[in-house]
Amino acid sequence: MTTREIFETMDYGPAPESAAEALDWIATRGPAFGHFIDGSFTAPGETFATRNPATGKELAQITQGTAGDVDAAVTAATRAFPKWGKLSCHARAKYLYALARLLQKHARLFAVLETLDNGKPIREARDVDIPLAQRHFYHHAGLAQLRDTEAPGMAPIGVCGQVIPWNFPLLMLAWKIAPALAAGNTVVLKPAEYTSLTALLFGQICQEAGLPKGVVNIVTGDGRTGEAIVTHPATQKIAFTGSTAVGRRIREQTAGMGKSLTLELGGKSPYIVFDDADIDSAIEGLVDAIWFNQGQVCCAGSRLLVQEGIADDFHARLKARMAKLRAGDPLDKCIDMGALVDPRQHQAISAMVDANTEGQIYRAPTNLPSQGCFYPPTLITGLSPAAPLMQEEIFGPVLVSTTFRTPAEAVEIANNTRYGLAATLWTENLNLALDIAPKLAAGVVWVNATNLFDASAPFGGIRESGFGREGGWEGLSAYLKPARKHTPIKPIAPVPAPATPEATGLDRTAKLYIGGKQARPDGGYSQAVWSKRGRLLGHAGVGNRKDIRNAVEAARGAGAWGKATAHNRAQVLYYVAENLAARAAEFQHRLREMTGCSKSRAEAELDASIARLFSYGAWADKMDGRVAQVPIRGVALAMREPVGVIGALAPDEAPLLGTLSLVAPVIAMGNRVILVPSAAYPLAATDLYQIFDTSDLPSGVVNIVTGDPQELGKTLAAHADVDALWSFAGGMDHAALEAASAGNLKRTWINRDAPDWAGASGEGRSFLAQATEVKTIWIPYGE
Ligand code: NAI
Repeated sequence: MTTREIFETMDYGPAPESAAEALDWIATRGPAFGHFIDGSFTAPGETFATRNPATGKELAQITQGTAGDVDAAVTAATRAFPKWGKLSCHARAKYLYALARLLQKHARLFAVLETLDNGKPIREARDVDIPLAQRHFYHHAGLAQLRDTEAPGMAPIGVCGQVIPWNFPLLMLAWKIAPALAAGNTVVLKPAEYTSLTALLFGQICQEAGLPKGVVNIVTGDGRTGEAIVTHPATQKIAFTGSTAVGRRIREQTAGMGKSLTLELGGKSPYIVFDDADIDSAIEGLVDAIWFNQGQVCCAGSRLLVQEGIADDFHARLKARMAKLRAGDPLDKCIDMGALVDPRQHQAISAMVDANTEGQIYRAPTNLPSQGCFYPPTLITGLSPAAPLMQEEIFGPVLVSTTFRTPAEAVEIANNTRYGLAATLWTENLNLALDIAPKLAAGVVWVNATNLFDASAPFGGIRESGFGREGGWEGLSAYLKPARKHTPIKPIAPVPAPATPEATGLDRTAKLYIGGKQARPDGGYSQAVWSKRGRLLGHAGVGNRKDIRNAVEAARGAGAWGKATAHNRAQVLYYVAENLAARAAEFQHRLREMTGCSKSRAEAELDASIARLFSYGAWADKMDGRVAQVPIRGVALAMREPVGVIGALAPDEAPLLGTLSLVAPVIAMGNRVILVPSAAYPLAATDLYQIFDTSDLPSGVVNIVTGDPQELGKTLAAHADVDALWSFAGGMDHAALEAASAGNLKRTWINRDAPDWAGASGEGRSFLAQATEVKTIWIPYGE
């Protein structure tokens, strides 16, 4: 091409990056690879091919990890844990720093290898994936250094099993390994079967960094290998990123095993453009939202919502921009879109798009290579919000679009999804942006920008996009647990009926408390509650599935509580405390009768209960979010939002204090609660009705359903409109509760250990963290 022709067409010529060094690395280190276990590479076992999706050519042979391989890796990690976990923070920080430096040193090799294996444009691997992975290790070197001073009383969990997807292979590895190591854990990580090479190269740099053997172990293979890691009895924490279907399966499989779990799953993230938006910027943003990494991004802005008045203009400009996207050899620095990861992904996307019968489809006239896994940039307009393509994750370069009229309608459509990972909004009106961002059901919101990530900013979802955060202090906390000794919860059985019960006299059946009213249990049954001395104290209703349903409905209807000011919520908590204090003698008497405790013990429990209400009144407006120091001109606000409707199974010990220790943090943070009182001492909770009634607590914020905690807990766990389940009840079948929660992937906090209800472990930040969800709102500065 002559210079004149170049000036006339303004075409980019090819600018290919050389694959020589990466292919050379594969040839010398492989081409058949084993695992990285206990600081060394194992001999290859049974292998499968990993291919370059842009050409279909085989790159290397990867070992299919067996249960035995996983066991060897977990054993190595278990052996390495005690020493690594106890290493000084500074020593651990230096290792993380060394890994960051080595990632930087080998940046080009990592980038080319990633592009070869995954098909993503080298421009993205070089400028996004690898720099972000480095930044993750640098940032977490700092978190490692500060762990003991900033997370006092916390300890590493142990061996972490980590399973990652193929869309950002090295970056997801960094998101998993850096916080685990910074906190003092050891890991067994499985890369996705399509993209194992950069993880194996990472194993090599662990050797170069002199990382102690067994701290990082990498086992390759497909879902079967992942399953062996997830279900291994010695992996104490599981961190997974991938599809919602596999995430749900992992929740079910780990139920009752006592493992910590974080899941980062799929999404169908809305991309909202208001009519006053800077349209050209919003369109450039869309290129990054849905054609970045060929749309194979969990938080891709895959659902376009455009305000009606500008929709035609917007779609026309968008199509013009799409027509200019360049697809081709991923190693060419001038292309915008590379190859999809594998022919199976291509088939899955094609099948979903071809099955659609609604709307209008526009496929950009992009020149696609004749071979390899390429799919054109695609836009489907005119879909109804309920259309399958509007609801299901396509995970490819396919944007679906609909329109809205008002901001309220935009929020309604945006939130009309089972997912809640990310959202983007474009408007030049700051007031509108800051009004809408908190209303979007998503873990991350980008204002006038999209797909921004940083190691200091928490990332993660709500609803079926999973739970847990990665990045920043919040991400680190998912790899820590309280450093206290185990005191398993001991169930307390209800006092049995005496051989010759006294005459019951007046009916004193405590009803259920639903929507601010006392309600008879649907089943019409109640259970006698006896004092230790054999006196009938009253009856408590036996709630059932229908009562729980009613309570959830009442709680859902009380959503305004979450929008009340924290100051107001504090006032209500102080008022509850005051009203309880006014009836101290009566509550102390009840405690003594129910539990047979001494007078001084009952007084102490009552005093502690009042103090606890004051504590959470104090916390209501002090559980601040933070401003993450992201490396852009702008801020990322990590806001603490209420989780929503929380089911809580109260402990048997300290029946009044334990009950209030759950109710108070839940409502202080703006949630609504369905409390199931202790089966042994239900009257400690039912006596509170009048206190709540006279303390300005809006109806439906606290609901109380007495009955069998296991049965009611399971119903709560399975209920689609319950957002989280806490359990401190004794004698629970934890597996049943956790398995039932898999339906809507609700957060669970199922405790096996009892805190000291009267002491420091019975209150504070750990409860407040469980009662809140972090939403990260990115707001860039500048015109
Ligand atoms: P996947 O969820 O099956 O794979 C992710 C990882 O989980 C891989 O390492 C895989 O080997 C492993 N895995 C699979 N089954 C497992 C099991 N039973 N136990 C433990 N680990 C297991 O995702 P896949 O099949 O690669 O892609 C299918 C769809 O999933 C995509 O089309 C996309 O919609 C979605 N996806 C979402 C991702 C996200 O980041 N949210 C990432 C990858 C896929």
